[in-house]
Amino acid sequence: MLVSQLLSTSVLLCTVSTVLAYPGMEMKLAKILSRQDDAAGEGIDEGDSDELLGDLITLQDGQLTRVGLDIKQLLTGGSTPESDDQYINVPALKSAQCKQDTCCVWKYIADDMAKLFRGPSGRCTKWARKAVRLGFHDAAGWSKGTASQGGGADGSLVLNPRELTLAENNGLQDIGQKMKEWYAKWHDKQGFQDITMADLIQMGANVATVVCPLGPRIKSYVGRKDSSVENPLLLPHPSDPADMLIELFENKTIRPHGLVALVGSHTTSQQFFVDTKRAGDPQDSTPGVWDVLFYGQTQGTAPTPKRVFKFDSDVALSKHEKTQQEWQEFAGPGGQKHWNEDYAREYIRLSLLGVNNINTLTECTKVLPPAIRTYKAPDQNNLNTWLNSNSQSALAKSLSDAINEGESILNTIITSLLGRLKSL
Ligand code: HEM
Repeated sequence: MLVSQLLSTSVLLCTVSTVLAYPGMEMKLAKILSRQDDAAGEGIDEGDSDELLGDLITLQDGQLTRVGLDIKQLLTGGSTPESDDQYINVPALKSAQCKQDTCCVWKYIADDMAKLFRGPSGRCTKWARKAVRLGFHDAAGWSKGTASQGGGADGSLVLNPRELTLAENNGLQDIGQKMKEWYAKWHDKQGFQDITMADLIQMGANVATVVCPLGPRIKSYVGRKDSSVENPLLLPHPSDPADMLIELFENKTIRPHGLVALVGSHTTSQQFFVDTKRAGDPQDSTPGVWDVLFYGQTQGTAPTPKRVFKFDSDVALSKHEKTQQEWQEFAGPGGQKHWNEDYAREYIRLSLLGVNNINTLTECTKVLPPAIRTYKAPDQNNLNTWLNSNSQSALAKSLSDAINEGESILNTIITSLLGRLKSL
C-alpha cells in the first residue's frame, strides 16, 4: 500500500561428435536400478544426464576412492546429491589439527563467503547470485568436442586476463574481483597452497546456493587444478532458440532435463544487461529466494506481475517438447523437492566439467552453512506492489537496489518517507 502510494507519486555453438569411451555395463546397471527408484520419485529418468566425466571414464570400480565411487554413482543417477553433513568441532585455523583436515580451512572460507551472500532480509544477495553464475560460466568453457583443448571448471574465468572482460560475462566482474581477494587471502598469505581458484569458484557457487532460502545443500568437493589458459567460448545467449540451447548443453553432457534444472537458478536473479532500461528487474516475484515460482511464472501458469522480466531462452525452454514436461513438474506439486535434488545432481556434474582428477577430490560438504527449508519474506506485500508497477522512479530504483543487496525494502521505504518529511 505504502509502496503503491509512493510509487504513484514518484512515478555457438559447437556441433560435435561424441568421442568418449563407452562407460560400460556397470553404468547401464546403475541406470536401470535408478529408473526403478524413479517410480518412487527418486533417481534419474529419460532426459536426465548420465554420462561419466574425466578420469571416471577409464578407471575401473576397483581403482576408485570412496569419493570417486560416490561421484560415479551421482553422475549415473544413484547416491544422494544433497547432504546435511555438519562439521563438528572445527579446529582453530592455525592449529596443527586444522592442517591435517583438508576441509578445515574451507570451513573458514565458506563462513567468509556466507557473510557476503546472506542479506538482512534473509534473502540472498547479488553476490550470491553472481557467485552461482560465476560457477556456471567458469565450468561452461568445456564441451565434448573441445575437450582436447582443456577448459571447464579450472578457474580460468578469473585467472585469465581476458575471459571476464567478454560481454557474455557482463555483471560478473565484481564477483571475479572478490574471488581474487579471497584467493590472495587464503592461497598466498595463509600458506594454504592447495586452495585453487577453480575450487574457490565452485565452493562459492555451492555456499551461495544454500544461503539462498530453500536452496539445496549440494555435495561439495575440493582438489580441482587451476589453469589461466583462455577457455573456448561456449556460453548460451538469452535469444538462442531452445534447440540450440539443448544441443549446447548436450555437448557438455547435460541432457535436456538437466538444463531445465540448472536454468531454474534464474529464480534468484535480477537482470541488468539483457534490457538495460529495465535493469534490476527480477526473473520471478521472489528474487533472492530459491523457490519454484520461476518455473510457473516463466511458462505463464502462475500469475506474473509486470516487472517480472522473462528471458526468451527460458520461455522457449518452458515450451520445447524435450523440456516442457520437466518444466511443468518443477512448477507443480512436489516440484521444490524434485527440483532441489535434480539441481544438486546437475550442478555437481557442471562443477566437474573438464576436471580430470575426480578420483582424488576430497568431499567437504560439511563446511557449508545449513540449508534454510522454510522462508517467509518480511516485506513480500510491499515487494508485490513494486512488482506490479513498472515505474522507473528514483524510489523504484532504490527498492530494486535494496533487493539486490538482500535488504528488506521496508527500510528503504521508511528512509524515503523520512526524506520526504524533512523536505516538507
Ligand atoms: C539457457 C541457458 C542460460 C542463459 C541463456 C542464461 C542467461 C542469463 C542472463 C542473460 C542473465 C542476466 C545477466 C544480467 O543481465 O545481469 C543470467 C543471470 C543468471 N544466470 Fe543464467 N543463463 C543460462 C543458464 C544458467 C545456468 C545453467 C546457471 C547456473 C547453473 C545460471 C545462473 C544464473 C544466475 C544465478 C543469474 C543471476 C545473476 C544475478 O542476479 O546477478 N544461468 N543468465
